[in-house]
Amino acid sequence: MNGMIMHTIGTHDINHVHELVYELRVSQIMNPDVVSVSPDTTMKRLMEILRDNKISGAPVVTDGKIVGVISIEDLIKSLASQRAEESVERHMTRDVVTVRTDEHVVQAVKLFARYGYGRLPVVDKDGKLSGIVTGSDITKGLLVALDSQFKSEEIRRYRASHVFEDIASDLTSLVLHFQVAPRDFDQGGRASSTLKRTLQRLGVDPALLRRINVSAYEAEMNLIIHTTNGGELRVEISPKELVLVAEDKGPGIADIGEAFRPGYSTAPDWVRELGFGAGMGLCNIKRYCDRISMVSEPGKGTTLRAVFEMNEREDSRESQKA
Ligand SMILES: Nc1ncnc2c1ncn2[C@@H]1O[C@H](COP(=O)(O)OP(=O)(O)OP(=O)(O)O)[C@@H](O)[C@H]1O
Ligand SMILES: [Mg+2]
Repeated sequence: MNGMIMHTIGTHDINHVHELVYELRVSQIMNPDVVSVSPDTTMKRLMEILRDNKISGAPVVTDGKIVGVISIEDLIKSLASQRAEESVERHMTRDVVTVRTDEHVVQAVKLFARYGYGRLPVVDKDGKLSGIVTGSDITKGLLVALDSQFKSEEIRRYRASHVFEDIASDLTSLVLHFQVAPRDFDQGGRASSTLKRTLQRLGVDPALLRRINVSAYEAEMNLIIHTTNGGELRVEISPKELVLVAEDKGPGIADIGEAFRPGYSTAPDWVRELGFGAGMGLCNIKRYCDRISMVSEPGKGTTLRAVFEMNEREDSRESQKA
């Protein structure tokens, strides 16, 4: 884990994680619930404390200040030499390497690399123990920071380029067409992933985009798997709603009610071997869109139409569904 971060630091170009290690403060990633012991604790008692808290060492503290550290290695040595009744003070390391709450995480990373310790006590500017930091605290802290940056980036993108807000007309719409060839599994997902990138650039709300993307993928795969000659995936976007249409010229569906039933599939074995044909595609689309309709005539073809409302706030939708 330390090795991983050091490797990142060692490379020439600054990547995002590297930058974060220099930006985040130790206080943001440390564990503030630190278990400490006093110098007069016996080694025997220390054993219980380490075991009960599932930790492998602890800072030794007097009046909030660190006077040493004691580790499981020190404990094992004391047990081996039958000195378990003695105090922690007689077995602890007095030269303690610490980091301060206001230092950057990179400082902790460097100290880990230099001393090979599993944990570093964290002190405030007055030298009082405020927390402890391990390699996995750093990893977790970086992941949390990356995730929250990612989310705020999504929101920023959404607000920055909400395309229709800048277009004035009585009726604004945009139609995207994608041709989907039958049985072409190599190209499977091409239309829906191109669509996703396009909608992203248009500034469609990220949560709405996820629902649209999954639905478009299912509709595209149905054109690939179930139609005679493939079909067209079409997306009609207006300020109010986004309509996803999948249209084909055969073979058609005899019983649409059946087709929407979870688990119903006519996919042949070789398609199932590719991982499709669970019979969940249509009912998933139904679940993710706001309105759905399907018209089909055996021998003629099928048209699926799924409507996604654009103005509904995604967070309220998600809380409704929960
Ligand atoms: N465009 C279509 N033309 C003809 N039949 C279709 C079409 N789309 C769906 N079907 C029929 O409806 C059934 C159910 O479709 P659905 O997408 O729910 O499941 P699936 O495609 O079989 O499996 P999955 O989508 O889980 O991989 C299909 O097995 C097929 O018989
Ligand atoms: Mg399907």
